[in-house]
Amino acid sequence: MGRRMNARVRTAHRLTFRFRDGSVVGANPSNGAVRRIPQPIWNILRQSTEWTESDRIRRQLDDGVGDNQRAAEILKALVSDGFLLEEGSEAERAEATFSSNWPFGETTADHHLVTRSLRFSDDRTEAMDFGRALRDHAGDDLAPGVPEGATAVGLPAGSLGSGLTSSLERRRSRRDFIQEAVSLQDLSSVLWATAGIQSYREAPMRPPLPLSFAPSAGGLNGADCYVIVQNVEGMSQGVYRYRPTSNALEVVSVNVRTNAMRLLGNQRWADTAAAIIVIVGAVARTAWKYNAASGFNALLLQAGHMSQNALLAAADKGLGAVPSNAIHAAEMEAALNLSAGEQIVLTSVSIGHINGATSSYQEYGDQHLDLLQKAATK
Ligand SMILES: Cc1cc2nc3c(=O)[nH]c(=O)nc-3n(C[C@H](O)[C@H](O)[C@H](O)COP(=O)(O)O)c2cc1C
Repeated sequence: MGRRMNARVRTAHRLTFRFRDGSVVGANPSNGAVRRIPQPIWNILRQSTEWTESDRIRRQLDDGVGDNQRAAEILKALVSDGFLLEEGSEAERAEATFSSNWPFGETTADHHLVTRSLRFSDDRTEAMDFGRALRDHAGDDLAPGVPEGATAVGLPAGSLGSGLTSSLERRRSRRDFIQEAVSLQDLSSVLWATAGIQSYREAPMRPPLPLSFAPSAGGLNGADCYVIVQNVEGMSQGVYRYRPTSNALEVVSVNVRTNAMRLLGNQRWADTAAAIIVIVGAVARTAWKYNAASGFNALLLQAGHMSQNALLAAADKGLGAVPSNAIHAAEMEAALNLSAGEQIVLTSVSIGHINGATSSYQEYGDQHLDLLQKAATK
């Protein structure tokens, strides 16, 4: 079927723009198309948010670029890259369907769409690029030990039982922690399961890969554990960084009582946890290989694998544990002394002793529960 001569078009609703080196670069997350947007095209995209005769747009482009033929080509490319949508086209229908079905807001829509259209290829150029990246980056900070001059607490070797089924069965989110110190041995075992190194494997063209209980994209171990210690035998309260290669907790800051409740989104039980393990993504360690949205996905998956291991290891030790994504990320970054942009807070697992095998919603706190009940029955 031939193209209608004077279809109406409008700018797609979901485009992203970046300003780089004096140019505007536009991307269409729906199909991965990226193009430089010079001023005449920028004007068209800004002005055509309502349906507009495509002939009118072509004339406007012609005025901007001063070349009739070129204007027609640009218009065609803008439509085929989905920067402009034709009325009644499949692209318009797809946009409408997606917009009405997607509940998470515009920025996550971009993330999701970009992830969908990533191309993985074994193209020769890509292999060469990857080889170069490997040479330049592999081994960067892969599994760092305690830096020279830092203070650290040595940990006993971690040990876990063999009852996976019973740990799976016992795991339940528990927030009703009792005020009994967790032993250094148990904390060490939970950290070992979460981010400890079991062994190393020789790998071509790079330093040996540290192997952990949790799988990680490319074996890069893309996240680290920080620990807010509140009630652990023999340890000062404070913030520590787990260094798996040294089996030690490096001191970040001690003898400060962090405001755990505030850091975990004002959840009252946070103050009663013996330790809060915060899983922190190591951006550079992951991004040289998995760039763009797939790298971010790899970090989120890493957090999931690690936190599940932490929860199961806590169950193995008879401890209570709860994952919490309610985190005041900006304040947590400050409390852990993270490097902005290089390290990002992904999730947390709080652990502590509990009484008995069952819990109830009471553990959220009576006052909280009262409010919930009032609101729910109004
Ligand atoms: C990604 C994620 C985030 C969570 N965040 C919180 C949280 O901020 N606070 C909390 O009390 N529980 C949190 N939970 C725990 C859930 O409430 C809990 O897993 C769910 O109610 C099911 O109970 P179960 O873990 O005992 O099976 C989170 C769980 C997940 C997986």
